[in-house]
Amino acid sequence: MKKKHLFVALAAVLAQASAWSAGTPKAPPVEIAAAAMSAPSHDEALSPMENLVLGTALLLERERETFEMQQVFRLALYLRPLRRVYDPSPDLVRKGESPDIEKVYTERIKRVLGSDMLRRIDQMKLTHADMEEYLRKHVPLYEVDWKKTPSFALVEYAVNDFHEQIAPPQTIDPKDKPEYYIAGSIRQISGRNPGDGQKLFEGVCSSCHGMDGQGRFPPIVMKSYLSLHSDHEHFEIVKGGPPQKPGAPIVMPTFGDKLTNDQMWAIVKYLRTWEQHWTDPRNVRRGEAEAKAAKVKFYSTPEVRKIWESRNKNVVLLDLQSDIAYRIMGHIPGTLHIRPEELDKKMKKIPKDKEIIVIDMFGSQGLAPAVELAKAGYKTAYLADGMMDWHIVRDYPTEY
Ligand code: HEC
Repeated sequence: MKKKHLFVALAAVLAQASAWSAGTPKAPPVEIAAAAMSAPSHDEALSPMENLVLGTALLLERERETFEMQQVFRLALYLRPLRRVYDPSPDLVRKGESPDIEKVYTERIKRVLGSDMLRRIDQMKLTHADMEEYLRKHVPLYEVDWKKTPSFALVEYAVNDFHEQIAPPQTIDPKDKPEYYIAGSIRQISGRNPGDGQKLFEGVCSSCHGMDGQGRFPPIVMKSYLSLHSDHEHFEIVKGGPPQKPGAPIVMPTFGDKLTNDQMWAIVKYLRTWEQHWTDPRNVRRGEAEAKAAKVKFYSTPEVRKIWESRNKNVVLLDLQSDIAYRIMGHIPGTLHIRPEELDKKMKKIPKDKEIIVIDMFGSQGLAPAVELAKAGYKTAYLADGMMDWHIVRDYPTEY
C-alpha cells in the first residue's frame, strides 16, 4: 500500500510551490473495512456544507485537470476553517471566533469554484451513501473517527486531498529521514499526564523548534498558524514528519517509530495550549522585543484596515511575502511588494519620509526585516497578525 502524502505547512508549501507541478498522480484509494454507519438513512440529502465539501472533493478526484493551481491553493485554505467548526477537540480555543465561519467560508469556496463547477456538483445529487463511500474509501487519517464525526472527517479528508495536490512533488521518503536520538529519561515519560506534552516537547522537539516553539523553522506558536491546523494534522506531522523536498537543509525526523501514540498526542495537546496563550496580549513572540526596542509600531489588523481605507498618502504598505504567497495567498490591494531576499537590494525604493507597514504571512517572518528597516532609519510599523488574519480570518479585501 502506498501511503499518501502527509500534510504540509502553508508556509512550507508556499515557499516550495514554485516547484509545484500540475497533475501529481494520485495514489489509488484504499479500501478500509466496511462497517455500517448508523446515523442518517442513505438516500437522505446532505447538509449544504456536506454537499459542497463532498462535491468539491469528488470534482478534484474526477477532474483534477479542470482545476487551476490557484483554485487548489485557495480551496485548501478555505476548507481549513470549516474543519474547525466541526472539530470535536475539546481543547480548541474558539474564543472570539466569528459565528459566521461556516457561511463565510462556504461562500468563498463557491466563489472559487465558480458557477460551472457548482452546477456539476448540483448534478451529482449527492446523498449520505455517497458521503459514506468517500469516507470509507479515503485513506484513514489517524483517529479521525468518521463514523462518530462524519462531518468533521469529511472536511478533514477534503483538506487533505487538496493539500496532497500542493505538497512538494518529491517528498523525502520517511525511510530517508535522519535518525534522531531520544534520551532514555524522555522515553520513560508516559504521555498520559497533563504536562507530559511540555516535557516531551522540550526534550524532543526544542532542539530544532526552540523551547518556546519559535525556533528557526516555521514558528509554530502563533494563533494565526495554530488556528488553521487541526490536532490530527499535527499528529500526522509529528508521526511522519512534514513533507519536505530532497535537499532541504534540515529534515524533520519521524517520531511515529520513536514515541508512543500517547506521547505524540500529549505533544499535540501541548501545541494546542500555545493557541490559548497566544490570545494573551502580553505574549511576546521572538523578535518582538527587539522590534519594539527598535521602535517598530505594532498594528492590529482592523487598525491597518482603517489606515488602508483612508488611503493615507504618508503610509506605504510593504508586503514581504514570497512571490507565490503574494500571488496565490493574496495581498492587500495597493501594497508595495518586495521579496524578502531582495529587501537589502531594493530598500532604496522605499520612501524614507513615510510610515512603512511591514506585512508578512503569519505575523512572524516580517519582524526581522522590520527591525532592519527601523535600524536603517525608516519609520517602521508592523501588521501584527499577518495576512492570515487579514485574509483567512477576517475576509478583508484581498487581491491575487
Ligand atoms: C531535527 C530538527 C527537528 C526536530 C527535532 C523537530 N522538527 Fe519539526 N520541523 C523541522 C523542520 C526543518 C521543519 C520545516 C519543514 C519544512 O517545511 O520544510 C519542521 C516543521 C514542523 C512543523 C510545521 C509543519 C507543517 O507542515 O505545518 C511542526 C508542527 C513541527 N515541525 C513540530 C515538531 C514537533 C512537535 C517536534 C517534536 C516531536 C518536532 N517538530 C521536532 C525540524 C525539526
